[in-house]
Amino acid sequence: FPTETVYGLGGNALDPKASMKIYAAKGRPSDNPLIIHIADIRDLDKIVTEVPEKARILAEKYWPGPLTMILPKADIVPKETTGGLDSVAVRFPSDRIAQELILAAGGYVAAPSANTSGRPSPTTAGHVAEDLGDAIDMIIDGGQVNIGLESTIVDFTEEVPVVLRPGYISLEMLQETLGEVRMDKGLIKPDSKVHPKAPGMKYRHYAPKADLTLVEGETEAVVETINRLAGEKLAEGRKVGIICTDETKDRYPAGMLESIGARARQETVAHNLYAVLRDFDDRGAEYIFSEGFSEDNLGRAIMNRLNKAAGYHILKV
Ligand code: TXA
Ligand code: MG
Repeated sequence: FPTETVYGLGGNALDPKASMKIYAAKGRPSDNPLIIHIADIRDLDKIVTEVPEKARILAEKYWPGPLTMILPKADIVPKETTGGLDSVAVRFPSDRIAQELILAAGGYVAAPSANTSGRPSPTTAGHVAEDLGDAIDMIIDGGQVNIGLESTIVDFTEEVPVVLRPGYISLEMLQETLGEVRMDKGLIKPDSKVHPKAPGMKYRHYAPKADLTLVEGETEAVVETINRLAGEKLAEGRKVGIICTDETKDRYPAGMLESIGARARQETVAHNLYAVLRDFDDRGAEYIFSEGFSEDNLGRAIMNRLNKAAGYHILKV
């Protein structure tokens, strides 16, 4: 089913058998917990034991919307849904189709992104059909999603709220609302020994089939380097994709070119990111070179997904 972020693969969150079926359809490890989606704020108290003041403030401000909160779970939530954890992830999506489905289903829908584990998240019903068409009962087609990246996850199980996954609701926005908020240490340095706290963030997912390299630096140097590297691979007879921006799209003479959006409008980049990665898969790209983006506001979420898609294969020029 569609949500404002990405398509979700839903099942009854309070039924352990339904959660097991979700893991099976996705090919997802069952220690990677699911998000419970609600569509009425009054339904929150039944699935958590406590809602800290700061979580109430965020719910008030950003729900319904692309925000997931980690809270201590109530007994009614099966361990199968939370991957064995004592906490539970909860989100109240703003998409109207999602809301109606959740209410029709009894109020609590567990849903990961509706992709095969390891592939980019789906932003159209077609993407879902490609990955899961044979494994699931129905797809509700709500057209292309609005945001295009998964929700921001904020953990409230510690004193200071921690961002476990950056998204459309940025660190800057959260800090403005709550004061002190920090990023999960496991997200900051790819080479660090600290594991991300959200189990799902440790996998190299969001990944295309091709070998993706991110090239970061001043525009001139980036364009020149990508053209040189692409040229080398093309000379070897390889299929090469280049991810550029509206600002630079006239500057790459060779290779398969796709603009990911306008650098000046970060939301366009978020919107197209996964579709571009899937497109290059469909076109058989073996190597992809992408421009990098600034890591402020929504850029933090964009770079988090691109870094993971590239397996942290980054060139600074
Ligand atoms: O935008 C979204 O959040 C989409 C749509 C469908 O709502 N859903 C989504 O779900 O992205 P999924 O399963 O692909 O990602 C959920 C992430 C995983 O990284 C998981 O490890 C983490 O949330 N997570 C879930 N419950 C958690 C918990 N109790 N503690 C820490 N991390 C948790
Ligand atoms: Mg996912």
